[in-house]
Amino acid sequence: MADRYLHLTGTAPGRFLTRRLGLPQPAPLRRWSLETPRLEGSLLHLTAGASAVTGVAEALSRSGLPVVGDTGRPAAIVLDATGVTTAAGLGDVHAALHPVVRSLAPGGRIVVLGTVPSPDDHHQAAAQQALEGFVRSLGKETGRGSTVQLVRIPAGGTARAAESTLRFLLSPRSAYVSGQVIELTAATATPGPAADPAAPLTGRTALVTGAARGIGAAVASVLARDGARVIALDVPGAREELERTADRLGATALPLDITAPDAADRIAAAVPDGLGVLVHNAGITRDRRLANMPADRWASVIEVNLDSVLRTTDELLDAGVITRGGRIVATASIAGIAGNTGQTNYAASKAGIIGLVRSLGPRAAADHGVTVNAVAPGFIETKMTAAVPLFIREAGRRMNSLSQGGLPVDVAEAVAWFAQPDSTAVNGQVLRVCGQSLLGA
Ligand SMILES: NC(=O)c1ccc[n+]([C@@H]2O[C@H](COP(=O)([O-])OP(=O)(O)OC[C@H]3O[C@@H](n4cnc5c(N)ncnc54)[C@H](O)[C@@H]3O)[C@@H](O)[C@H]2O)c1
Repeated sequence: MADRYLHLTGTAPGRFLTRRLGLPQPAPLRRWSLETPRLEGSLLHLTAGASAVTGVAEALSRSGLPVVGDTGRPAAIVLDATGVTTAAGLGDVHAALHPVVRSLAPGGRIVVLGTVPSPDDHHQAAAQQALEGFVRSLGKETGRGSTVQLVRIPAGGTARAAESTLRFLLSPRSAYVSGQVIELTAATATPGPAADPAAPLTGRTALVTGAARGIGAAVASVLARDGARVIALDVPGAREELERTADRLGATALPLDITAPDAADRIAAAVPDGLGVLVHNAGITRDRRLANMPADRWASVIEVNLDSVLRTTDELLDAGVITRGGRIVATASIAGIAGNTGQTNYAASKAGIIGLVRSLGPRAAADHGVTVNAVAPGFIETKMTAAVPLFIREAGRRMNSLSQGGLPVDVAEAVAWFAQPDSTAVNGQVLRVCGQSLLGA
């Protein structure tokens, strides 16, 4: 559904009026396209104190942006704060960013690099945790479609593990992601960038559930763009829409209810060469306040959104269908973080996804060489949110740092980042794609 307010603030009289009334000023976001594959401008590389990781300059040089060391009008600023271990050291963060933050180009990116807060050193932990509050506040200040994130690299590690993450965050692909903290693992061998950067998933098969429409169709489209052979799964009742979507993308349609007892076997049969990327996107809502919620509404949401995800994941992993270096991406929601009236069932199922990802991620990596992550969408413009009553819809759209709803492609780009062959160090993470929503913040 068109965001008329965003259109209004894009006109001179609309901007004048809404500014006078003190209303939100959403900036149109620049997303990835063939014509605008990267940010326009340079990357300013700053350091607060001494770096505690190696290879930051090399990783930034492969980000796709020309790196500069002086001011100007950068499209992106990366501050290496991995060496900040004391409260006094936080002064270096201020000293580095204070003079340049105003010069960031509209739609720009700020990425702060930190390390994991230590359980053994409370001064280091305090200083590194401080960066989280800093980043979340700066995300609310920058405006003009700019975003701010914190990426934690294990101390003493190498920024090589962060390359796929930096490529994503420092590009138009992350337009609707802000105020996020991404904690990278001490990855085992991280493969280098793909042979064909335009098609990094070449040779991989990706299966997306709930792919007939909405976010799932966008995920299927972006994974196909990145070179994957895509299998689009949806309920048999949506067969026509599914086949249209699959035809458009050159994907294979698999009409199948993911809650079917033999769903994992049917998926395995459809991918004789194994599965490189499994995206659990299918989801339903059956909203009612708990006092009015019959057991069947509760059960169906838990079954589709959580139990079938647990079951098919276990069966496909145990059967070795998901190949080494494989990626599992599940779909949570900010409702699973913040909670929502009328959605005890839905929020429970989505919070369950977060539990699944955090617990299974490290074990799946150790036992199968597979990563497990989740996206947690905020307000995304789909048929589902178009049906929400006007005032609630407007509140959902504006109550975030970018003052607008996201698009299905924003979630899809995050899934594609998790799916990258060199995203090995990204594991057990839940990335909110919510424009830094105030809900659950
Ligand atoms: N739209 C949002 O703002 C938003 C916000 C947070 C999370 N999400 C989550 O993102 C995912 C996609 O949402 P959407 O807005 O595109 O929803 P949607 O309703 O447009 O699409 C969901 C798809 O899943 C399919 N599906 C449902 N049950 C299935 C089953 N048992 N087996 C196979 N397929 C099944 C549906 O047929 C449909 O095509 C869901 O998990 C949803 O909970 C969406």
